[in-house]
Amino acid sequence: MDNPRELLLSLSDAAAGTDNPLSWFEDLYSRANRDDSWIPWSDGNPNPLLVDWVIGQPAGKALVVGSGLGEDAAFLEKKGWQVTAFDISETAIKWSSDRYSHTSVSWMVADLLNLPPELCGDFDLVLEVHILQAMPVELRKIASQKLAPLVSENGFLVCIGRYATEDDLTIGPPWPLSYSFIESIGASLGEMSLKKIRLESDDSSVSRYRAIWRRTKIKND
Ligand SMILES: C[S@@+](CC[C@H](N)C(=O)[O-])C[C@H]1O[C@@H](n2cnc3c(N)ncnc32)[C@H](O)[C@@H]1O
Repeated sequence: MDNPRELLLSLSDAAAGTDNPLSWFEDLYSRANRDDSWIPWSDGNPNPLLVDWVIGQPAGKALVVGSGLGEDAAFLEKKGWQVTAFDISETAIKWSSDRYSHTSVSWMVADLLNLPPELCGDFDLVLEVHILQAMPVELRKIASQKLAPLVSENGFLVCIGRYATEDDLTIGPPWPLSYSFIESIGASLGEMSLKKIRLESDDSSVSRYRAIWRRTKIKND
């Protein structure tokens, strides 16, 4: 196979019927053999919607969920944040920790669905980029409720991904997310602020979102 998108779809299809439907991430990263042209979501840069949000934010403690090849984590660290980044793929974590070995990012292999106690702290920023939309729907619902409890008093949850339009027929992953699903992710934190956008590089079928919540309610979750 010489097309990264075809490889991704064939690995995710094969994993879908098994008892480990997320195993294709590790398969893809290990097959890529450190050639990032095989990782469709990685272009070596931080997500532009994160870059835009960070401007003017005081740095604090950040948790980058499903950190992939580490661009967002390394970017936040450069901006002065104290960053912990985790991913379910051991290969992705080794790859990013080598790639960004000059940074102070703390890299960990972990599963959002089953977080180890050391990740269950209070973070001023919890960042999720393109993870929920890459999960099958049943796991996605469970995973989406794991994020808000990690946010500190006055902290932020920032989620970035593809936004589903009315007539969306996308063959996923990724599966663009609906307004009602996105709203449910941080509902326990307070009001959502949603920005919808199309990037210059996107074709007209693509719509994206950045959803932000700030914990305004007393933390009792
Ligand atoms: C589409 S990629 C996005 C990676 C990165 N956030 C980015 O934007 O470049 C989804 C990432 O989430 C990771 N992932 C999927 N399920 C996960 C889980 N349950 N816990 C932690 N990471 C997960 C995958 O290994 C993969 O690196």
